[in-house]
Amino acid sequence: MKLLIVAALVGLCFAQYNPNTKHNRTSIVHLFEWRWADIAEECERYLAPNGYGGVQISPPGENIVVTNPWHPWWQRYQPIGYNLCSRSGTEEELKDMITRCNNVGVNIYADAVINHMCAASGGEGTHSSCGSYFNANKEDFPSVPYSSWDFNDAKCKTAKEEIENYNDVFQVRNCRLVSLLDLALEKDYVRGKVAEYLNKLIDLGVAGFRVDACKHMWPGDLSNIYSRLKTLNTTWFSPGTKPFIYQEVIDLGGEPIKVSEYFELGRVTEFKHSAKLGTVIRKWDKEKLSYLKNWGEGWGFMPSDRAVVFVDNHDNQRGHGAGGASVLTFWDSRFYKIATGLMLAHPYGVTIVMSSYRWDRHFVNGKDQNDWVGPPSNASGSTKPVPINPDSTCGNNWVCEHRWHQIRNMVIFRNVVNGQPLSNWWDNSNNQIAFSRGSKGFIVINNDDWALNVMLNTGLPMGTYCDVISGDKSGGSCTGKLVSVGSDGRATFSISNTDKDPFIAIHADSKL
Ligand SMILES: *[C@@H]1O[C@H](CO)[C@@H](O)[C@H](O)[C@H]1NC(C)=O
Ligand SMILES: *[C@@H]1O[C@H](CO)[C@@H](O)[C@H](O)[C@H]1NC(C)=O
Ligand SMILES: *[C@@H]1O[C@H](CO)[C@@H](O)[C@H](O)[C@H]1NC(C)=O
Repeated sequence: MKLLIVAALVGLCFAQYNPNTKHNRTSIVHLFEWRWADIAEECERYLAPNGYGGVQISPPGENIVVTNPWHPWWQRYQPIGYNLCSRSGTEEELKDMITRCNNVGVNIYADAVINHMCAASGGEGTHSSCGSYFNANKEDFPSVPYSSWDFNDAKCKTAKEEIENYNDVFQVRNCRLVSLLDLALEKDYVRGKVAEYLNKLIDLGVAGFRVDACKHMWPGDLSNIYSRLKTLNTTWFSPGTKPFIYQEVIDLGGEPIKVSEYFELGRVTEFKHSAKLGTVIRKWDKEKLSYLKNWGEGWGFMPSDRAVVFVDNHDNQRGHGAGGASVLTFWDSRFYKIATGLMLAHPYGVTIVMSSYRWDRHFVNGKDQNDWVGPPSNASGSTKPVPINPDSTCGNNWVCEHRWHQIRNMVIFRNVVNGQPLSNWWDNSNNQIAFSRGSKGFIVINNDDWALNVMLNTGLPMGTYCDVISGDKSGGSCTGKLVSVGSDGRATFSISNTDKDPFIAIHADSKL
């Protein structure tokens, strides 16, 4: 009993770092721009049965509707109020989705855009996702309501109110990020309105928030806002459970604002993980897989218990945010599967799997002219549903990386090995590596330009295992490669550099 009480107290104190996932599920999938109705279906038909712990949803609040360019994805990062309607759906649909996902043990994390409202050039009218009136010229947002008193103009000292210099922390936090009207979050009134919005989502049943643009907000203001948040809805969460908080702070080094300023408040996005993983797998800058032996803090990343990691996110997969050309995406699918497999096998951080839509890329001098293109939609701008093909892939240009069987199986792998230490590391001093997670799982990767043929200590109990990358265990048999682990824990591995997917993963639940 005493132990339980101690465990409960520790849980309370550190709860904002805990994704509050159910059934030992470990990973979050970002269903970027999906409609609420499709997410509800996906929770029931796919995410729960395949061990996904939660979904990061696109911002649920009311945003500006931009027509030039045509309905870009980034219009959802330009709020004009906190009514819960967007092109993903109505408040009723949002509520239905949160309820149905929670009912099958899949959490919902809302993307919270609280640093700013729409761009200064947003104009006046009812061109908004619920049709609410606003006037960006006058900083008038009556549906909240916010007026010009609630913005940072007086505090910003640059000529055009814009952030001009990222070495000046006052500019970065008090001025406008790409002309977005910057909220005065030190005001009690503004803090109250933001907290009211987030608390409404908590009551509906979300498990936490991805907080957008945290570099542009003072940690003290965020601390105050977070302190106003309710605990999670007890229909689905234990009494006293705090929302999971993960903050978007892009810190690749070289700027005065550091991720560490946000550690006390919650977890933080580790963009170095995304940039470096791409560099290593592409073998740029003379990087090699063998250098990953001390992957994580050893690479100058933030502490694992503060980190949220991903191979790519909705920004850097199209050249926004940070990370540059090294970032791997579904467009480089073979590398992408290796990168995602590695991330999910490795104990570092809380992992997010990206799920994207295709768009027509058009590069001019290395820059994608179509980096703004929004989700698949019909002529009137309604987001298209996500139809599921008989082979479990998605239609209508939805990529559904989270359904690629290699990625799906590595999400299951991560659940099975949860809590186990990284052990039995092996490398060939080049681009062939292997490691186990305690005695529960083992992964071998060949990213060299020649074959891998080696006997390795897996740390696993004797038996025949099904490789979950080349196939699946179904019933008592395996549709992929078989791995035979001897009584000494050793097994022989062969991976050609030309294999469709040059890696093998086995775990306790893939034992035949
Ligand atoms: C979670 O994992 C632990 C340890 O592996 C196990 O004892 C427990 O039964 C699991 N819980 C659920 C709900 O699967
Ligand atoms: C929690 O969710 C349930 C189910 O949707 C709802 O009936 C209840 O009002 C919610 N609790 C709060 C405090 O809003
Ligand atoms: C677009 O989709 C919406 C919602 O399904 C529908 O109401 C509308 O008629 C469609 N418009 C066109 C032009 O296809």
